[in-house]
Amino acid sequence: MEELKKMVAREALKFVEDGMVVGLGTGSTTAHFIHLLGKLVMEEELEVYGVPTSHQAKFLAIESGIPIVSLDEVDAIDIAVDGTDEVDPQLNLIKGRGAALTMEKIIDYRAGTFIVLADESKLVDYLGQKMPVPIEVIPAAWRAIAEEIEVFNASAELRLGSKKDGPVITDNGNFILDAKFERIEDPLDMEIELNNIPGVVENGIFSDIADIVLVATKEGVKKLER
Ligand code: 5RP
Repeated sequence: MEELKKMVAREALKFVEDGMVVGLGTGSTTAHFIHLLGKLVMEEELEVYGVPTSHQAKFLAIESGIPIVSLDEVDAIDIAVDGTDEVDPQLNLIKGRGAALTMEKIIDYRAGTFIVLADESKLVDYLGQKMPVPIEVIPAAWRAIAEEIEVFNASAELRLGSKKDGPVITDNGNFILDAKFERIEDPLDMEIELNNIPGVVENGIFSDIADIVLVATKEGVKKLER
């Protein structure tokens, strides 16, 4: 699996050009991309600036030698490279297993080209087939929001930490609800509906923003485009 992740990360490097501002995604697949990009910076004198989507991406970028800038320091982001948890046939996504969905969506949305790194296990017939939708919420509102979500025939669970007692706290100081849907028929509509609930900061449905999905397979990398 790590080899497949590395292969798809390597393919994404082909989209990076000298002088670009690059959105740096979160997760284990993007971690390979950040390492490989860092090698080009350190060994080939490639000049790029990274805009990290999380503390994880920031730490990895610093460790790899990629100069980082914050979103408010750049006029534009040329490309963003990020992982995903599900991809449907229209290239709508579910993201946020790593709880970084809010900054990921802000940066991926701002990018001129948003490139998604996936493997075949992430391809689904419809969103919600395998994964819950992570929703970042204001802590004081989590229980009220969990009840509101039930209106959509979904069940919402507060995400708990594994090396911390109690809830996962996001990079922005909020909680995460994981909402399991039977099937998401209309991703754009559901993305808007969820964000309309007061106290929701952002949700992990990324409809209509992926430009290219690179899929690692045993036969090589497949490129899906919208
Ligand atoms: C983090 C994410 C990740 O990009 C997504 O979970 C994919 O991660 P991985 O590459 O480790 O499978 O959305 O919030």
